[in-house]
Amino acid sequence: MDMAHMMFKDGLMNGERILVTGGGTGLGKEMAEGFLKLGAEVHICGRRGGVVEETAKELMEKHGGKVVGHACDIRVAEAITEMNDKIWSEHGPLTGLVNNAAGNFISRTEDLSIRGFDAIANIVFRGTFYMTHDIGTRWIKEGLKGNVISILTTWIWNGGPFVVPSAMSKSAVNTMTQSLAVEWGRYNLRFNAIAPGPFPTEGMTKRLAPDADSTEDMARDGRNPMGRIGKMHELVNLAVFLMGPGAEYVNGQTIAIDGAAYNATGGNFSQLAQWGDAQWQAAREAIEATNAKDRAKRTV
Ligand code: HXC
Ligand code: NAP
Repeated sequence: MDMAHMMFKDGLMNGERILVTGGGTGLGKEMAEGFLKLGAEVHICGRRGGVVEETAKELMEKHGGKVVGHACDIRVAEAITEMNDKIWSEHGPLTGLVNNAAGNFISRTEDLSIRGFDAIANIVFRGTFYMTHDIGTRWIKEGLKGNVISILTTWIWNGGPFVVPSAMSKSAVNTMTQSLAVEWGRYNLRFNAIAPGPFPTEGMTKRLAPDADSTEDMARDGRNPMGRIGKMHELVNLAVFLMGPGAEYVNGQTIAIDGAAYNATGGNFSQLAQWGDAQWQAAREAIEATNAKDRAKRTV
């Protein structure tokens, strides 16, 4: 990310300790870098232990400070508790959590198996709750204030054809955000969410636009009123606004950052209704090759 576009003053997040799930790659890595640059201690987790270690090293070499990588599968509640015990005892209590880890792929819903549905729902729907519940209950028990941001999609407002398990799960996390903002507001805990439009990341492009030459395609042909995809610093600035000090009264909100795409065109995959069997077959093969390549790097 180009740090020249950061809107916030140095040291804004001094003393904060933030966990970004899925922070080894993509948007999670970008947000981790932004928080680190502003003075926070950052923890990142993912199933590919080597990837989180490498990212932690890369970010510390670039900016100094402290980034700690954890190999943790958020589908496993016990693994979450073990990681958080370690963070609390070796580093100290977290002050913030970004629920960013997710799984997704495009598929006709009639082609999905139950295992295919679970592959996504177990990460996004269940894993996000397990993590939020484990950390939230620690904050409540210890009388600490805390701040949670969840990364959603704009499909929570208008549905996600061809990404139904993701759309359903993200909608549930939106409901969690609204519910806990109210229920746990009295404990000084905040819950907000960000619904990004397309931002170029390898994990997303290979699974959601396997036929596109680049993620730029997702904003062409009148699909985005601003005619472009998102820039990483734009997302990071919004995440810092919600996570950093100074706007604590914002609670229970989900903010879209998509260049007004969903207002204009729906911002979802409705256009894939034009695909035939051959295109779906090719997409599935490409996606499954990406899945297999990533799976081979998992250490948990
Ligand atoms: C149909 C598919 C499929 C496909 C996998 N499956 N790909 N079904 N079409 N393209 C099925 C498999 O056949 C299998 O079912 C089941 O899903 C589980 O597959 P595994 O590969 O064994 O799953 P697993 O190893 O658990 O991996 C989880 C994953 C994977 C979700 C499938 O993609 C992953 O780990 N992703 C993490 C990163 C990621 O997805 N990033 C993108 C985030 S972008 P059967 O029945 O055959 O055994 C995003 C929103 C972007 O979230 C919004 C843009 C605007
Ligand atoms: P990404 O790079 O693939 O990020 C997903 C991350 O989640 C990976 O680092 C992955 O690491 C981790 N993860 C997945 N399953 C996990 C599990 N069970 N336990 C722990 N970590 C897990 O894709 P991205 O584009 O940056 O997506 C990040 C977030 O933004 C997601 O919530 C996505 O839905 C959302 N989003 C992205 C876009 C976009 O345009 N890029 C748009 C809207 C919303 P491992 O595989 O190593 O576990």
